[in-house]
Amino acid sequence: MNTAHQGPLSRPAVMAAHAALQDKVSPARLDDDAFLTLPRELKESLSRLIGTPAEEIILGNSTTYGLDLLAHGLPLSRGDEILLVEGDFPATVTPWLPLERRGVAVRRVEPRARPLTSEELETQLRPSTRVFCSSWVFSFTGEAIDVEAIGRLCRDRGVLFVLNGSQAIGTRPLDVKTTPVDALVSCGFKWLCGPYATGFCWLRRELADRLDYEQAYWLTHMAGADLSRDTEPRLRDDLGAARYDVFCTANFLNFAPWRASIELLLDYGIERVAAHNQGLIERLVTGLDGTDWQLVSPREEPARSTLLLIGHRDPERVPAAFAALARAGVDIAHRAGSLRISPHVFNSDADVDRALDVLA
Ligand SMILES: Cc1ncc(COP(=O)(O)O)c(C=O)c1O
Repeated sequence: MNTAHQGPLSRPAVMAAHAALQDKVSPARLDDDAFLTLPRELKESLSRLIGTPAEEIILGNSTTYGLDLLAHGLPLSRGDEILLVEGDFPATVTPWLPLERRGVAVRRVEPRARPLTSEELETQLRPSTRVFCSSWVFSFTGEAIDVEAIGRLCRDRGVLFVLNGSQAIGTRPLDVKTTPVDALVSCGFKWLCGPYATGFCWLRRELADRLDYEQAYWLTHMAGADLSRDTEPRLRDDLGAARYDVFCTANFLNFAPWRASIELLLDYGIERVAAHNQGLIERLVTGLDGTDWQLVSPREEPARSTLLLIGHRDPERVPAAFAALARAGVDIAHRAGSLRISPHVFNSDADVDRALDVLA
C-alpha cells in the first residue's frame, strides 16, 4: 500500500515489458513504424485518461519534465511572480527556483488551514503573479486541493494554473475539457503503474503556442520520412505539442508497459478505481478511530485523497510501527514524521485489515 511512492507494474504491463525486451534482444523484430506507433498509441491512452485530444499530450520522463518545460518556455521576466504552496513536494518547487536568478520571484503561500482554499489564495494573488503551481494531492499530508474552485479563481484573475497531478492521476478522475486548468504534469510510475522514468504533460493549446522554447528532436521532425532515400534534416512547423516530446519518444522498454497499465486502468474505469480506493481509505480511517493514531490527512472527501498520513500520540512509536508493518509484509512509507498508506486498485480490505492489526 505504497503507491504514492511507486505503483507496481500490472500483469499486462509485465507482458508488454517482456515483448519489448524480446524486441531488443532480436532488433530485427522491430520495424521502423514501431518508432511512431508506440508514442501515438501512448498519447491516445493518456488522452482518454484526461479527456483531451491525443495531439495535445506531451510525453516526458517525469513530473519534472513538464514543469521544466514551462519554467524555461513561459515568457517570464524580472518582477513577475510564481506562487507555490509551502510544504508542497520538492518536484513542484525546484523547477521554478532557477528563475530567481533572472529576477522572477518565487513565493510560497503558507495556508492558514489546509488544504489551501480559493478564498485564501485570492488574498495572496498580487498583480505580479503570473503562475500558481500546486500539487493536486500533497505527498506529505494527503490533502487534495479543490481544483475547480482554484482554477476558476486563477482564470478570473488571469493567472496560469499549473497542476501537478502525480499523486492523483489514475486514482481521481479528471477531464481537462471541463476543468479550469492550464497545464497538467504527472509522473507515470505511481498511480498509473508504469515503470520509473515515465511521465507526461498537457498544456492548453493557447498556452502551448505561447511557449518560447526551441527543441528539435530529429525523429519527431523527420517522422514519416523514408530513410532509405530521404535523409535531409528538416524542421517542421506543424508538430503542435509533439515538438516538446521527450527525446527517444519511442522508449519501448518503458512506454510499452506504461501504456498497458493505463489501458488496464481505463478498462476498469477511473471512477470505479477511485470509489474502490476511497473505500479502502474509509476502512482505514474508521479502523483507526479510538486508537492512539491520529490523522494528519483530512478525514472527509473531497479534501481526503488516497494518501492517508497518520501520526501517533507518542512520536517514538512511528518508526517502530513502520518496522513492524514491514516485518508483517505491509509496504507503506515513512514520510515527514508520519506513516503514509496509499492503497490502489490491487489492494483489498484484507490488506487494510492486516495493516490495522499491526498498528493496533
Ligand atoms: C507530488 C509529487 N510530484 C512529483 C513526484 C516525482 O517527481 P518526478 O516525476 O519529477 O521524479 C512525486 C514523488 O516522487 C510527488 O509526490
